[in-house]
Amino acid sequence: MTPVEVRFLADVPGHATTLARWHHAQWGELYTDWTLAVATEELIDHATRRAMPTTLVAMQGDVPLGSVSLVLEDAPELRDQGDAWLASLYVVPEARGLGLGVRLVKELVAFAARQKVERLWLFTPEHASFYARLGWRPQGSAKLRGVPVQLMDIVPA
Ligand SMILES: CC(C)(COP(=O)(O)OP(=O)(O)OC[C@H]1O[C@@H](n2cnc3c(N)ncnc32)[C@H](O)[C@@H]1OP(=O)(O)O)[C@@H](O)C(=O)NCCC(=O)NCCS
Repeated sequence: MTPVEVRFLADVPGHATTLARWHHAQWGELYTDWTLAVATEELIDHATRRAMPTTLVAMQGDVPLGSVSLVLEDAPELRDQGDAWLASLYVVPEARGLGLGVRLVKELVAFAARQKVERLWLFTPEHASFYARLGWRPQGSAKLRGVPVQLMDIVPA
């Protein structure tokens, strides 16, 4: 079995369009004006650096299985809440339940610590218990286009 490695998208930039398709299909309805073209542009930009804002990808050989991003802003409505966000955690359906989601979150938090992020934020419509088990603290709720989301934070270490 080929091992899964977590890499910077910058190391495998050709997969930016695949990630954009995943993300847009999953979250497109949460955002106004966030077209597939915009999602693609953002990821092509992330593929140019290994510092925030950027994206990590779980790769099995040449096949991308999931990704997670570290960004300065995840939703304009929540801009004042924090300036470093874990965003767009995604694992392809056929690779779920194998620990990849947990691994991507842990690697992203460790990377944020190396980037000297003092407080990392996320919002989630439905996975608060998943993040709570990884040490994220509930920090209230908000609504994005009518969808209730839980805000959470962690001090990266
Ligand atoms: C959420 C997601 C990233 C989890 O990825 P995954 O690779 O299946 O997660 P893991 O295998 O690392 O799961 C680890 C644990 O979390 C649990 N878990 C998985 N999905 C969960 C969920 N939706 N809510 C609560 N716990 C969950 C698993 O049961 C597992 O628990 P266990 O170790 O006690 O068995 C994946 O389901 C996904 O991509 N979903 C669609 C996109 C999405 O919703 N992303 C989150 C945005 S906030």
